Amino acid sequence: MKLGLIGSGALGTFLLEKLNEENHLHGVTIQAIFDERKKSKAKLGELSEQYNVAAYQNLDDFLQSGIDVVVECANIEAVRMYAPQIIAQKNLLIISIGALVDQVFYADLQKIAKTNNQKILLPSGAIGGLDLIQAAKLSGNLQEVVITTRKPAASLVDANTDREQVIFDGLATKAIEQFPKNINVAIILSLAGLGSNDTKVKIIADPNVDKNIHSIQARGDFGEFTLTIENFPMPSNPKTSYLTALSILASIKSLLDPVVIG
Ligand SMILES: NC(=O)c1ccc[n+]([C@@H]2O[C@H](COP(=O)([O-])OP(=O)(O)OC[C@H]3O[C@@H](n4cnc5c(N)ncnc54)[C@H](O)[C@@H]3O)[C@@H](O)[C@H]2O)c1
Repeated sequence: MKLGLIGSGALGTFLLEKLNEENHLHGVTIQAIFDERKKSKAKLGELSEQYNVAAYQNLDDFLQSGIDVVVECANIEAVRMYAPQIIAQKNLLIISIGALVDQVFYADLQKIAKTNNQKILLPSGAIGGLDLIQAAKLSGNLQEVVITTRKPAASLVDANTDREQVIFDGLATKAIEQFPKNINVAIILSLAGLGSNDTKVKIIADPNVDKNIHSIQARGDFGEFTLTIENFPMPSNPKTSYLTALSILASIKSLLDPVVIG
């Protein structure tokens, strides 16, 4: 399987190393990278040489380069700019899922994907349990989904503090507005479950933790469920959890596997 990559920061470089250097997923390589910004020309050249990939500054050329799937690891703006054109031609994995909070945009992408027989892949990122939430939702009676995110205080609040502080307690819609950089997990959970108007979010700044800890609770006529994840950061970008990078690999692998679990 040949991948095209947009965004070569912490996550993108991780994929280039795992797939093109370490051959981590047998038969899967990144064949092309795309960045149309003028300032990126030199960096694209370096990446092209280092990881043996073709570099493109034109989206049409990138999409025509023989790739099967596009992997977005850039940012929300890149998703807004390029996803509609990409999904008309290729499967697209989106990690900057903040772009999908715009329900009209998300619905449009789904429509284009369906019309053109393409898939949108949304990795689970820094959390898990989305299989269960999606199954429970099918009963029509998923009653409550709550996520409590506890992060090192210094990453959330400026002032030095020696006590934990609840800095947000409310609906995902508002959390996404107020903490756009910290809330990918609430968005993917909302998309899988009750939507951002009905998913509850609590964010705690805690001076006594050094990891990002997410605890998810759900309740419905299936029963009750609690899952807690303590994430280690990626060494190359402490703001991103290592599990997020692994979840991208897992999503890509799922396209190849003859067995689907979950
Ligand atoms: N879904 C999740 O759970 C989750 C978790 C962590 C990060 N993310 C998101 O993943 C994305 C990447 O994260 P990262 O840690 O690798 O960030 P990063 O800042 O290390 O890398 C982003 C890269 O994208 C490049 N880029 C920006 N605009 C571009 C454009 N228009 N075209 C091509 N390249 C462009 C930047 O130059 C940079 O190299 C971010 O949007 C982040 O919010 C999602």
